[in-house]
Order: sequence, then structure tokens, then C-alpha cells
Amino acid sequence: MLYGTATLRNVTTSLLLSLVPVLGWAAQHEFEMSIDEVTIDVAPGFTNKVFAFNGQVPGPLIRVKEGDDVTVHVTNNTGLPHTIHWHGINQINSWHMDGVAAINQKDAIRPGESFTYKFNADRPGSLWYHCHVNVWEHVAIRGMWGPIVVDPKEPSDLEKKVTKDAILMMSTWQSTYAASFGKGGLPQDVSDYFSVNGKSFPYSQPIRVKKGDVLRMRLYGAGDETHQMHMHGHDMLVTHKDGYALPAPYYVDTVPVGPGERYDVIVEMKNPGYFIMHDHVDRHMSNNGASLGGPVTIFEYAEATMDDWYVWKGINYDPNYFYSDSLTKGYGLFNSPPFMGKPVAQEKRRRKE
Ligand code: CU
Ligand code: CU
Ligand code: CU
Repeated sequence: MLYGTATLRNVTTSLLLSLVPVLGWAAQHEFEMSIDEVTIDVAPGFTNKVFAFNGQVPGPLIRVKEGDDVTVHVTNNTGLPHTIHWHGINQINSWHMDGVAAINQKDAIRPGESFTYKFNADRPGSLWYHCHVNVWEHVAIRGMWGPIVVDPKEPSDLEKKVTKDAILMMSTWQSTYAASFGKGGLPQDVSDYFSVNGKSFPYSQPIRVKKGDVLRMRLYGAGDETHQMHMHGHDMLVTHKDGYALPAPYYVDTVPVGPGERYDVIVEMKNPGYFIMHDHVDRHMSNNGASLGGPVTIFEYAEATMDDWYVWKGINYDPNYFYSDSLTKGYGLFNSPPFMGKPVAQEKRRRKE
């Protein structure tokens, strides 16, 4: 055997460890995630019960570097079983961590139980995580999703120009089942609210920019329908699909984001004014038929003067609504208090089975 003694092994180990920073070897990250029953206010007059990662919808941002090792301890505080699937992570030599019950995880995480996922961030890009139990309910209408950003070891020249980052996760809701855990999301059920980062206009938020900003938006299809995201006044350069750099980036003004998909777009903010971005599917522009609603943001340039009649005049601005602040803070897991829901009362949530 190459290393015959424990001593030699220890010396070798410490020598290797001392090289970690030099060689840029895998950093280790360890995170805690709970799954909690809360309610969130999606739109005026519409509150939805959700299974929320760390009590929030969308879930916390996980950001690591390509090649890093990630450990996540998950505790299920809800009344139904869940798993977490790490969408985009290829689970090389770790397929038991893929989070699909009875396929590669023996059992879903039962109410009150915990499970630890360990995997390597084996590829870069805009990835995400979501439950893989009853996905038609838990993912489509219970908010069980959140973003993972894996930074590439070698960012492209385009990426290096980015000055501001935003994450937009589009999804769908079914008001019929808003208050009933364990129901909804079946083919005959109809979605009637549509959101970006868990809220519909006017509860969504603007993106404040200044001329010269280079804005990257990571667009996620977290719900069950395709969102035709259209940005006014600007061209969007599509640079990545599902986290993969495109060999030939292309310009669009509308980008279709279907269930499970991610598109990264980079936009030169060079046209001062106030411009909307919205889903071009007509019924997605309403809150259960009331217009204007749905996944809407407005780009507000610092150089433009806010009109008196501007729809979001006086809004309580949250600069982290699109994770823009969290995305300036390096690696880790980032909770976002404004996404936190209100706890569902214990006695109310007990289900009789
Ligand atoms: Cu679930
Ligand atoms: Cu998935
Ligand atoms: Cu339009």
C-alpha cells in the first residue's frame, strides 16, 4: 500500500489540506433547512397556505462555487412528507441524494423527521431545488422551490460585465385549494393567480437601476405553466439555458420560460425611464381575472423622474426582492425576511386521516 502508516497518512492529509486554498479545491458548505407550514399573501385578497423552506417563499438562496461540497440538513415541520430534489445537480457518485422517494431515496422525509443531503456542485449555473413529492401540488401551488446559483470556475467575458443581479422565479396558484393542504394541482384544476418570487402585481416589486448598469436576470419556471417574459424598452441577451452557457448568445424581447426551465439574460441598462416587464400570456396578466396582475416588475431608472400618477409611487421598496442584495454577499445560504410567511396555527393544521 502506498501510505503504509497512520503517521504518513496524517502528514499526507495535512499536506493536501494545506494545498486546498492554493489549488482552489472544494470548499465545504453546511446548511440547515426547515420546511414549515405558513401562509403568504400572494395578491390583494388572496392568501395561500404553503410548505415553506425556512418559512419563506421562494426558499432561501443557496450560492456556492462550481466544485464545492454541499451538506443540507432538512427538517420537516409540516403534516405531510417531502423530499428535496436538487434540480441541475447531476449527483455524480451521489445518486442517493437526488431526492426522489422510492427511486433513489428510501422514503420521503416524514412529518417531524430530518434527512441530510450531501452532494457536490458538479456544474455551474442557475440551478434550483424543489420538493419531489406530489409535485403537482407541492411545487406547483405550495411554494416548495428556491434558487441555487453555482458560480462557474471560469466566468465568461459577458458575465464579468454584470453589475447587478436578479432572480425571478415565476409560478402559478390555485385559489380553490389555497387553504387546503393535500389538495389541488391535478389536470382538471385551474390556476388563477400568477406570480414572480411568490407575489403578483401590485405586491411584486420594481427593479431599481441606473444608466450603465449591466443587469443579469435569472428567469425560472418554478410553477406549472409557461411564462412569456417580455421586457419593454430593452433587448435581453440570452446567455445561458438551464445554467449552460450558450455557444451563440442571442437577443430577444420576449423569452418563454416553461416549467423547470431557466434562462439567464443580460441587459445593458441604457434607456432611462420606467419600463414594465410582464408575462405576455394574457390570463397571466390578471389576478383571477382582475387586471393588472401576475408576474410584473418595473425597471425604475434613477435618472428618470417619477410621475405623480405612477402606479408604484410611494411603494415600500425591498431591494432584496429579487435577491439582488443577497447576490452581492458571496457564498452561503441567504434567508430573506420579507419572503417569510405567517405560521399556520398548530391546531388548525392537524389533519384527520
Ligand atoms: Cu413536498
Ligand atoms: Cu425539477
Ligand atoms: Cu407589454
